[in-house]
Amino acid sequence: MKKIGIIGYGLIGKYIHEHLPELGDAELAFVYDLSSEATAGLDPELVLSSPEKLSECLEVQAVDIVVEAATYQAVWQLAPVVLPHADFLTFSSTAFADENFRAEAEKLCKKWNRRIHIPHGAVLGYDGIFDGRELLESVVITTTKRPANLGSNVKEKTVLFDGPTREACQKFPRNVNVHAGIAIAGLGFDKTRSRIVADPDVEGNTHLIEVQADGMRFNIEVCSVPKGLVTGAYTPVSAFNALKRIVSDEPGLVIC
Ligand SMILES: NC(=O)c1ccc[n+]([C@@H]2O[C@H](COP(=O)([O-])OP(=O)(O)OC[C@H]3O[C@@H](n4cnc5c(N)ncnc54)[C@H](O)[C@@H]3O)[C@@H](O)[C@H]2O)c1
Repeated sequence: MKKIGIIGYGLIGKYIHEHLPELGDAELAFVYDLSSEATAGLDPELVLSSPEKLSECLEVQAVDIVVEAATYQAVWQLAPVVLPHADFLTFSSTAFADENFRAEAEKLCKKWNRRIHIPHGAVLGYDGIFDGRELLESVVITTTKRPANLGSNVKEKTVLFDGPTREACQKFPRNVNVHAGIAIAGLGFDKTRSRIVADPDVEGNTHLIEVQADGMRFNIEVCSVPKGLVTGAYTPVSAFNALKRIVSDEPGLVIC
């Protein structure tokens, strides 16, 4: 029996909870969310809302994996609480653009013999980029969304950012989690180039990943229509199936 905890009960967290029965031999250990509104319909025994309560819960329950679908701040705050007890699957991957946090996370993983999984979330291709990383010469990822989904009110197609992924993670932390994943898989946060484009005429979130390497190049374009302000339709489904692979011991991309 695998025990699974969820941090963040929004679009992704809720979808994962609803589909947990499909994992077969798995059980929900807790849901951690700062908003009582978000968790209103849940059994109160399952709900946690402070790092202290989370720590107490992890002390007494043998949780296998904790899924984070909240914010990068939750990853920063709760990784030291989670990793002594369980592996971590993080959707807010921009958290790892902070060098100090990444070093701390790696230290914790080593100390407690844990893994932090980076799911492919809204895009595809982490595996191919990771496996070809010695050959890579340039990786550019361009995300195009409607202005409101990027916190902008421009009236025509506008490049809001073009530069290193580390800076994109600081400026658009909720919108470039896939840039962070691509950076971790390939050239790192400083050598991966991020472009963020606001376009009032697009329907969905589009991510174009352009990879050039010694002797090869490939482009991947993924478009998915958002159900909320940030997350596209593909992500909750890919999120659940990534968890399914991990609990079946097919780990995919791990950071440490
Ligand atoms: N890696 C990817 O491809 C990818 C794709 C889409 C979304 N995301 C990221 O995944 C995360 C979840 O996305 P979503 O669409 O489900 O979000 P959402 O806004 O629907 O839900 C987030 C939930 O987290 C809760 N929350 C916020 N801060 C918290 C904290 N510090 N501790 C605990 N709970 C907290 C909120 O109350 C909310 O219920 C976001 O960071 C989003 O940017 C990643």
